[in-house]
Amino acid sequence: MSSQANSTPDNTFAGRTHTERVRADAAGQAHVFRFWTELDEAGREQLLKQLQAVDYELLGRLGALLKMDEPAPSESTPELTPPDLFPLARDEGASAIADLATAQGNELLDGGQVGYMIVAGGQGSRLGYDGPKGCFPVGPLSDRTLFELHARRLLAAGRRHGNAPVWYVMTSPANDAPTRKFFEENGHFGLEPTNVFFFSQDMLPALDLEGRMLLAAKDSLFLAPNGHGGSLAALASSGALEDMERRGITLISYFQVDNPFARPADALFLGLHRRAGAGMSSKVVAKRDAGEKVGVLGNIDGVMGCIEYSDLAPELREATDETGNLLFRAGNIAVHALDVSFVKELTSGGVLSLPWHVARKTMSALGETADEVAIAGAKFETFVFDALAKSASSVTLEVSREVEFSPVKNRDGEDSADSCRSDLCRMFASWLVNSGIEAPQGRVGEFPAIEVDPLFAEDRDEFIQRLRDGHVGQVTATGGLRFEDPEAIE
Ligand code: UTP
Repeated sequence: MSSQANSTPDNTFAGRTHTERVRADAAGQAHVFRFWTELDEAGREQLLKQLQAVDYELLGRLGALLKMDEPAPSESTPELTPPDLFPLARDEGASAIADLATAQGNELLDGGQVGYMIVAGGQGSRLGYDGPKGCFPVGPLSDRTLFELHARRLLAAGRRHGNAPVWYVMTSPANDAPTRKFFEENGHFGLEPTNVFFFSQDMLPALDLEGRMLLAAKDSLFLAPNGHGGSLAALASSGALEDMERRGITLISYFQVDNPFARPADALFLGLHRRAGAGMSSKVVAKRDAGEKVGVLGNIDGVMGCIEYSDLAPELREATDETGNLLFRAGNIAVHALDVSFVKELTSGGVLSLPWHVARKTMSALGETADEVAIAGAKFETFVFDALAKSASSVTLEVSREVEFSPVKNRDGEDSADSCRSDLCRMFASWLVNSGIEAPQGRVGEFPAIEVDPLFAEDRDEFIQRLRDGHVGQVTATGGLRFEDPEAIE
């Protein structure tokens, strides 16, 4: 949020208090001062600091958004069309383009033009883990954390392309300190500390149904991260974009912390994006079936974006194309390529307007007295995929779900750490087929207990090559099979 400075600021404590009381009062938010007399100096300073960062004009708009039960009905139904997919099943022509794009992507990677960016500022509330989600262990046999698995993929990419990977890690003020500490305690997972650039997204106040700010404590507003769309403004305000330019990075490979299958150094994707002269591109997976409740990428009145499941009429959900596949099948997996110049243009002058999304929630906040009570209200977020609308051209690459997507979202069941571990083992087990190696006795879920370190192999072809080169796996005490970085073992 931008700070709304007084035109003749009185920077004494009393002056700042006065200014903030006046601003809060004018915006109908004076209740946030209700415990003021009980606060010590540090508490008052903390609350003042948070209030100084509040953009009341924005807050007013968000409050109005919240009070609308439904968005205002539009005059006409939007026309929805599927995106032009670069498909997984390729004919000869598409294969030839894929070869050229892969070569171009490899040039970008070899030349150090690709910077890797992870968004890890979310609260992970569904997982219910007490700490940054990236610190959660998901390696089926190694117990490696999400951060470490991603880091090892980047290290593998660095080895392949002969340069040191540069990683931009977005946190939020709520998890920035523990995230940095975790990286430090783990030696930045083998990455050069100077090549890990932490930056933080903004937070903004949660509101009750009347549009009033909530308090998390007597001296603290109830703040929530502003959504992964906040990453774009944060790239600019943190100096990350300048850092990229200094290093000769022209392309950002964007992925989420919760998907250890993400393949950030995918030469095909990056090459397709650059060949198309695109500002922002996306990877998608085919929806499992018409009823899978995921957003799909598509054109909304001719503008690229993400179509919510609920916005797709049943007959469109079921519609198929000439190949018999679902017409609207482009399930969004939140993997993007973004040109540095595109993000720079979007954020120039500090104004990037992405639409706000309302996440209605019941939150535990302070009631009129200091008791914690459940209060119905909302948090507000912007989404990175809404920036697709601002990109003149965009590539949508279809990839295999089995190979590239299994996120850790929930505590158990679908999209949980358990389902993710099973999916990893299923993929690794598929690499063993025809390799002459017997599947181990141990099981993870219903699959053989196998883990392949990204530094051993990133895909089946590389895995087979490693075996041909004489590298082997180790049987673990629990009957699993681990294939580790050969350079670390030798
Ligand atoms: P999700 O939408 O799954 O949210 O984020 P979450 O916060 O991780 O989990 P829940 O919804 O509270 O259970 C998808 C990705 O976007 C990042 C997350 O860290 C995750 O990588 N994200 C989300 C941010 O970086 N900032 C945000 O404000 C929201």
